[in-house]
Amino acid sequence: MDGFERVADVASVPPGTMLSVRVRGEEVLLANVEGNFYAMGAVCTHQRWDLSEGALEGTKVTCAGHGSVWDLATGKAVFDEPLEDLPVYEVMVAGGSVLVRAR
Ligand code: FES
Repeated sequence: MDGFERVADVASVPPGTMLSVRVRGEEVLLANVEGNFYAMGAVCTHQRWDLSEGALEGTKVTCAGHGSVWDLATGKAVFDEPLEDLPVYEVMVAGGSVLVRAR
């Protein structure tokens, strides 16, 4: 559990939903994809929209701002111009809590 911080109750992020949390001052997007949790930077590197306001489909998040599509597993985006990658974080579930490893 070295470096992991509790960020949410499992029950507060049902499958198919996302939540923006803070880990050591960084905005982190927590997503539940069919019971598997992912954590990626929450701020779109295009024009800084909050990705938790976007749409989750599988492991892809579409930004509500201008439609870039982010891969939760890699932190990479598909867009009509190159975008800087977002950080991805290790996630674990323990005792009903979701924990994210701070970078
Ligand atoms: S702010 Fe996300 S695509 Fe423009």
